[in-house]
Amino acid sequence: MEAVEKALLRALDSSPDGSVANSLAFASSNGLDHKALCGAIRSLAASELVVSKELAEQRWVLTAEAQSYVDQGSSPEVQVFRAVLESMPNGITLTGLRGKVGPVAAGVGFKQAMQHKWVSLLKQDKPKPQQDADAVAQKAEKEEAQGEGGKKKKKEPKAEPLILAQREEVEDACLNLLRRPDLLSAKDAQALKKRKLVAQEKTAYFSVSKGPKFALERKKEATDLTRDMILGDKPKWRDLGFKKYNFNAMAPVPQGGHLHPLLKVRAQFRKIFLRMGFEEMPTNRFVESSFWNFDALFQPQQHPARDAHDTFFLTNPRYSSSAAWPQDYLERVRRTHEEGGYGSLGYGYNWKLEEAEKNILRTHTTAVSSRMLYQLSKKCEEDGGKFTPTRYFSIDRVFRNESVDRTHLAEFHQCEGLVADRDLSLAHLIGTIEQFFRNIGIPDVKFKPAYNPYTEPSMEIFVYHPGLQKWLEIGNSGIFRPEMLRPMGLPEDVKVIAWGLSLERPTMILYGIDNIRDLFGHKVDLEMMRTNPICRIGLD
Ligand code: PHE
Repeated sequence: MEAVEKALLRALDSSPDGSVANSLAFASSNGLDHKALCGAIRSLAASELVVSKELAEQRWVLTAEAQSYVDQGSSPEVQVFRAVLESMPNGITLTGLRGKVGPVAAGVGFKQAMQHKWVSLLKQDKPKPQQDADAVAQKAEKEEAQGEGGKKKKKEPKAEPLILAQREEVEDACLNLLRRPDLLSAKDAQALKKRKLVAQEKTAYFSVSKGPKFALERKKEATDLTRDMILGDKPKWRDLGFKKYNFNAMAPVPQGGHLHPLLKVRAQFRKIFLRMGFEEMPTNRFVESSFWNFDALFQPQQHPARDAHDTFFLTNPRYSSSAAWPQDYLERVRRTHEEGGYGSLGYGYNWKLEEAEKNILRTHTTAVSSRMLYQLSKKCEEDGGKFTPTRYFSIDRVFRNESVDRTHLAEFHQCEGLVADRDLSLAHLIGTIEQFFRNIGIPDVKFKPAYNPYTEPSMEIFVYHPGLQKWLEIGNSGIFRPEMLRPMGLPEDVKVIAWGLSLERPTMILYGIDNIRDLFGHKVDLEMMRTNPICRIGLD
């Protein structure tokens, strides 16, 4: 590279007009590789040592056949002529000629030699010696194609015409042309092209002249401005000279998209739920009213979870309008909270509509379940009390006003499943949960009694982590209370079993991540996003 660069800079310096008009010619006359020269020109132009103009030239180049004649040192017609001359005074047949110069050279060479009148044809049985050269060549080829049998049939070999030389000497004009394809006249080029001896090729080249920063030696240019360059009374940057930005440089090819581990695990869970016959619930409502998130779930309005310490309240819009909710249901919810019903004593407090209207970021996906169960009861009512057993699931984001640590985030994902059917029991709940966890690849599950305002009985779910060799709490579950379901209008014997877990926990277990902040949130390493392995769990 450096040698090429130096050769060009020296040539520009010594050229009277400070330019090299054609890089192709320059490369060939100096024995340089043109590609390397082009690279040097581009790089020198970027540093303004030279100014270059990119041009293109149509060039005639030799075909492989033509190159073989140049290598042999004679054109086919001259090869034919020499063979014929050698055979004189007897002359030679076309078959003989083929044997001497080969079939290709014999074919075109004979035709050319005839056209130049270097040779003539003598028909042995007819007096007329001159004959159309093409016809003879064709006939001979046909006989050749017939093979041995054809030859044998031809009883008199002397019937084949003889080729005789008409000159003592010829000049190989064709070879002379082929030796300098760059000097071909238009007419010669066309004639050679017709003979498939030359072809046209488009070649890009540069014309180069001295640039504003021309020098025989390239000065190394600075690329980045550093602190060191701008410090001091006499900052170095002034004398440095900076490399110009190349705005035409190709940018690195962008990577394809990559799925976050949570999305991969979600896709797998979704598949497992669907395979178990569960339908997905619409989870597009991040902002929810306290009513559907808490009140509908029989969670009293003084419950600590409804405190601003645990829940994010919206300031704008602060309230939802209760007018949009079914008024009769609203009334039944109020009554159940205040005085109970359906065998319950209620909480015995003064239920406030304003509290239910407060907008929050939903704290659990059970808010979605309560909306869906209400709709299910509406459908049951419309169907004249005919209840359709239903399996629902959801996987989406929830929000809690939580202080963030290794295992807690204020924004995370929940995965929830529920089954609604007549006469479901705790055994159904345990069996369904065990089945679900087996399907997600966690065979060891334990339950511990717990309390939820909306389920009775309630159970925390524990799974065994073989890596950590201990039982981890992974989820929560229970049978929804009558105080939640009956105000909706569900028949008394319809029971709903449900469970919920975070999506982060199983993902951390699967991916061996021990700090939740490495999995989700603004501190996530983007490299992890690119390199995390595929996720395949469950039965497939
Ligand atoms: N909503 C509960 C939670 O956030 C999970 C749960 C869902 C519990 C369904 C019981 C029934 O932890």
